[in-house]
Amino acid sequence: MARKFLVAANYKMNGSIASVRQLIQQLNESKLDPDVEVVISPPCIYILLARETLKPGIEISAQNVSDKPAGAFTGETSVEHLKDVGATWTILGHSERRQYYHETDAVVASKTKFALDNGLGTIVCCGESLEERESGKTVAVVEKQLKAVVDAVKDWSKIVVAYEPIWAIGTGKVATTEQAQEVHVAIRKFLAKEVSSEVAEATRILYGGSVSEKNCKELAKQADIDGFLVGGASLKPAFIDIINAKQ
Ligand code: G3P
Repeated sequence: MARKFLVAANYKMNGSIASVRQLIQQLNESKLDPDVEVVISPPCIYILLARETLKPGIEISAQNVSDKPAGAFTGETSVEHLKDVGATWTILGHSERRQYYHETDAVVASKTKFALDNGLGTIVCCGESLEERESGKTVAVVEKQLKAVVDAVKDWSKIVVAYEPIWAIGTGKVATTEQAQEVHVAIRKFLAKEVSSEVAEATRILYGGSVSEKNCKELAKQADIDGFLVGGASLKPAFIDIINAKQ
């Protein structure tokens, strides 16, 4: 089955009202490949601005969400509030949240289940460190991260997986097409074994980690790379070229 290519922008903790407006204006004025699903994830505080100014068809994601309902959870952001301001997705389990905020596989799985149960799509991140890659543990690490989600959820129709090797994030050292394709195949095989062949075939697997306008075309040609999760390059005009990588 054809999986619709998806390009998501992760602005991380970057930007301002002015810069977000400028990035949105550029997206609104650009000719985007109609066969590509585009999702923008600004800092949470700018989601409403993004929703009210982005042209229809471009969706908005949070970068994290609480696994609790709205209420006495100071400092947290609820699914209800994200939906209220127009978000339809959330990124979960990003390596920076696993590293700096100690989000475990169990926390990521709990957030994924809660977000799905309450109507948000989820982009679930996984990926290994350089040390884990060099010791041949890449697939084992990624499978362990995803296993927690497999055990927590039943419906995979609104789950997108993002493979982001930690050693490629923000480093300019992009995975080779062979390295990325190899892990994407392993993830798809894991989903076939642990969930079903239908889910494995239907689930989109994005690559993230130093994607740029220079490397996106080659990566997009790989059979099991169904899109990108883009950090730094999503804050630049070249992000349009990444969206149009398959043209
Ligand atoms: O979530 C995407 C991000 O981790 C990749 O960052 O700057 O290497 O594209 P970057």
